[in-house]
Formats: sequence, C-alpha cells, structure tokens
Amino acid sequence: MCGIVAYLGNQPAQPILIEGLKRLEYRGYDSAGVGLINDHTLNITKSSGRISVLESMLAKPNPVEILGIGHTRWATHGEPNTINAHPHLDYTGKIALAHNGIIENYTALKTFLIGKGCTFQSQTDTEVIANLIGYLYSNPDGKDCPHENLNRFEWAVQHALNELVGTYGLALVCTDFPDMLIGAKKGSPLILGLGKNEYIIASDAAAIVQHTTQVIYLSDNEMVTITPKGFSTKTIDNIEIHKEMKQLEFSLDAIELDGFGHFMLKEICEQPKALTTCLGGRLDMRDNRIILGGISNYWREITRAKRIIINACGTAWHAGLIGEFLIEQLARINTETQYASEFRYRNPIIEDNTIIIAISQSGETADTLAAVEQAKERGALTLGIVNVVGSTIARTTDTGVYLRVGPEIGVASTKAFTAQVAVLAMLAIELGRRRHLGSEQAKFYIDELSKIPSKIEQVLALSEDIKKIAEATCERENWLFLGRGFNYPVALEGALKLKEISYIHAEGLPAAEMKHGPIALINNGMPAVFIATRCSQYEKIIGNIEEVRARGGRTIVVANQGDENIKQYADFLIPVPEVPEELQPMVTVVPLQILAYHAAVLRGHDVDKPRNLAKSVTVE
Ligand code: G6P
Repeated sequence: MCGIVAYLGNQPAQPILIEGLKRLEYRGYDSAGVGLINDHTLNITKSSGRISVLESMLAKPNPVEILGIGHTRWATHGEPNTINAHPHLDYTGKIALAHNGIIENYTALKTFLIGKGCTFQSQTDTEVIANLIGYLYSNPDGKDCPHENLNRFEWAVQHALNELVGTYGLALVCTDFPDMLIGAKKGSPLILGLGKNEYIIASDAAAIVQHTTQVIYLSDNEMVTITPKGFSTKTIDNIEIHKEMKQLEFSLDAIELDGFGHFMLKEICEQPKALTTCLGGRLDMRDNRIILGGISNYWREITRAKRIIINACGTAWHAGLIGEFLIEQLARINTETQYASEFRYRNPIIEDNTIIIAISQSGETADTLAAVEQAKERGALTLGIVNVVGSTIARTTDTGVYLRVGPEIGVASTKAFTAQVAVLAMLAIELGRRRHLGSEQAKFYIDELSKIPSKIEQVLALSEDIKKIAEATCERENWLFLGRGFNYPVALEGALKLKEISYIHAEGLPAAEMKHGPIALINNGMPAVFIATRCSQYEKIIGNIEEVRARGGRTIVVANQGDENIKQYADFLIPVPEVPEELQPMVTVVPLQILAYHAAVLRGHDVDKPRNLAKSVTVE
C-alpha cells in the first residue's frame, strides 16, 4: 500500500526519493509525488500512474535541494488522481506532508477547519492533517506554544497528532524550517535510516537498505525531528525518549531481480533455498525434536493450550488453514483459523489456555495486527509467524517464529507461503512431541521435512511443461481449483494466485463441495485443476475428477510421479514427488504458483504490480 520516503542529507534529495519510491512500487500504488525544499520554498510534483511518469515531469536534480519527502499512494479516500496524490500542502502553503494510514475523524476535523477559513483542494483525509497543522502553526490560540524543547513547527505537529483518530505514518516539512524533517507514527510503520551525515525516513526498509543498514524503528505515538545537526525522538506528548539502533538483516541483493523477469518468478525459484534457511538449525535429527529459539520460553504455556486460534489474511490465511489441520492431526489440539478482519469484530470468546497465532508475511497487515491487540487485551498468549524482522506484528506478539526467507517483493506471495507452512509443520511436530507424538513418528516427519527443498527443486524443473499447459488454457475466463484434506487449502491458494495476477476468475473449493453448486458452472472445456496426490482421499478425488470430465470440463491434474492410474483422468498432468500427506502442500502448491505466473505473463499482465492490489494492506 502507500509508501513514504523522505531524505535529509548532503546529496540532492530528488534522485534518492525517486529511487526509494521505485523500491516501494511493489507494495502497490496508483499515484506518486515528491516535495523538495529549496531555501524557503517548496517544489511539489505529483502525478497519477507510475513513478516513471512522475520522473519524466521532474527537472534536473538541484544540488541545493537536500531535503524532501516522497510518497506512493494507494487510494482510500478520493480517486487516484494528481490532486489527491501526496505530498499534501496546508492552506498556507508552508507545510507539506506524506501520509500512510487513515484518519477516521477527518470529517469532523474538516468541518472545524472549514469553519476557521481553511480551504481544501483534495478529497483525501490526509489534507486534514496538513491543514490542522497549518492552522495550529499560524493560530496557536494562545496555547503554551512553544515548549522549551520545541519549535513552533514541532509543536503544531504534536498538537495536531493528539487530535487525530486513526492511523498514520508521516513525513513532514515546513518552509520556515528549511533544514528540518519530521517523522511520526501510529499504526503505520515508519523507520529512520541513519547514514553518514544523511537520514532517510521510510515506511519500508527496502527504501533504506541501499543507503544504510542502521535503523531505528519508531513505535506508535512517537515522532522524530531531524536536522543536519542530528535527530531527537519524543512521544507525541513531548516526552523525550531514547531509541535503540538496530541492524537491517538483509542486503540490497535480496531486493534486486538478479536476472529474473519478475520478482514473483525469482521468489518461486528461491523456494528450495528459502525453505532450507527456514528449516536450518531447527530440525534436531538426533533427538527428533524441533528447536524454535524464539518461543523456547513459552512451550509450557503453548503445550497446555486447550484451543488455538489462527488469525491471518489472504495467502497467510491459507497457510493458517493448513496449520489448523497440522496441529489438530499431529498435536490433537482444537484449532481454528479465522479471517483477522472478521475475528476482530466478532467479540471473540477467548478463555484461559487459548493461544492466538498470527501469521503475516509483512507483519503489518492492519486487521491481523488488530486481532493480535484484541487477543492480548483479552489475556491470550499471542504468537507471531512473521517474515519481516522488526515489523509491528513481530514486535506486538508475545513470542514468535520468523520465516527467515528474506524480503518478498512479488505481490503474489509464494516463498512466504511455503515457509509459513513449514513453520506451522515444525510447530505442530514439536507440540505433538510434547504431548503424545512418539519419537519415531516425529523422526519420520522431521526427515520428510528436511527433504522438502529438494522435492520443490524437482517441481521447478517442470516450469516449461507447465507453461505449455498455461498456453493451452489461459484464454479461459473461469477456472475451478479442487482438492481434499491437506490439499484443499492448496486449491484455495492456487485459485487466489491465478486471480491475483492473471485476472482470471477462479474458485478454490474442497472437491466434494463442488456438487453443492459450482458443478453447475462446468461447461465445455472449463479448466478444473485437481490436486490429486496419493493421500487418504485419493479414491474420492478420482471420483470428483470423473464428475467434472463427464460434464465436459478440462482437467489439469497435479498427481504423484509414477501414478499411472491417474493418467486416464487428466487432460494435462503435472507429476510431483511423493510427500507424506501432512507435508504435501509445500510441494503441491508450487506447480500452481508456476501455472498462475505463466498464465499472467501470457495474458500480458505486469505480474509484480497487479492492478488494485497491495503487498501489505495497512488499512482495514
Ligand atoms: C495482501 C497481499 C497478499 C497477502 C495478504 C496478507 O493482500 O497481496 O499476498 O497474503 O495481504 O499479508 P501478510 O503480510 O499479512 O501476510
């Protein structure tokens, strides 16, 4: 979703902002803009569409413009046009800001400000923040401004932030303070990068890592003021605070294409390596145990759980559903998977011995975060399964496990999904081990887990064959994805992948449910993807395939290598290595990722920037 980059240093800000905005493109956006301070004037350039359009509108970088703010906007309030793009100026023309998040009381504030004579240009909630700060800055109403440790700009920012209801990550400048940059955060991530005589504020580490790996993560209700002399951090209630410096744990290479056409393809192909890192040092083959350092102090509590509720959104929710099946099967603990967006508004029942697991690649999804906060308030232990180190969910949960797969840039999540399932499998095995799962059974699953990376490697080798299937089918506008048991969530994920990037309508279902409605959709040649590996419901799913074929559907079947029997049922066959049923999703999902990728490319879509989608959904 929206992205912020702001710079104050010793180089022209413009190219640094543009480069930073390009690094944030993957998050999803529909317009962009930059604001540069030149002495006591502000030069703002904005456009709808791609960063390249904005770039073409900019003059040559000016060496005196060493302070600036930039933004990529994903529209919430107001259509994605140039006026609604950020930075937004206040009505006096002195204050400019870039904002991520949503201001919930913007209507009341707007009415108040219009009453005071402020004018508005855009339909955004953000302009209310600019005007409120501008109004307070120009009319302090006799309040105690400034405090000793604040100038008038900082005071106005603090005062305004205390009036806001909602979420914000903000970068702000004021023409009266041409060497001052302010950042503030509540509910939307904001990171301060500390370079050599230069500072970058960004909503995502991807925009910082090229310049420095030393960062400070702002927490909610905190702000930072930066000048060429240094920076200071305070709460928005004006209490000075010391923030610890952290090291970013990934390098620039991790966010480069490295010869691949798209990040999605790069990340699909990275899965063997990513899973090896995810599993590395965590499989204790000697004692048949799982070592998850992050949660080692919480096992007692987790093992006693009477109920586990998994909260997540999107692809992470599909991983959660597999986790539910795994935990119930291997650890025999009552587990359910909830959409975080629903859970948070359901007045959920959380009794003693309930554990909440939150799964999130980004660690910033607003609904998942809200679900965690609510569960914590109600006394549950919260456990995060998160990829982005230092992200809000990682810091908010009581304990957790990192995926360790490196940055995921492709909007369609791939390597994070397989790693989420791997972590859930490890959790389920160790939980089972601590309850009733015998050493030999645990050994079996641990051995099999360790073989998953090489099995995924075998599936990756099928990419060209899968491309041919995509060529033969991708013009069809309606697809079904069907699986049973552990492969049912894989069917959901396969359908989501296809929808997200190729804009084909696809429905994922437990195969038996097809008879209760969707079978009516099947017409001549409609593609139906079956995940029909050898498992406890193999015979049943064969029956489902026959039902589709009898009605003229065209079947694409993911089956096990060497399964001769299934050939007769498949118009297209994708043979994958055999894996125990419980661990199959990590392997069976890979051909579906590849299929969706090729279909989208063949249909001419920008795989890494699918329309309307955002990588990290930081608004509810
Ligand atoms: C967005 C992304 C999906 C992702 C979902 C949850 O919709 O486009 O790929 O699965 O958010 O994101 P999270 O970061 O919480 O896993």
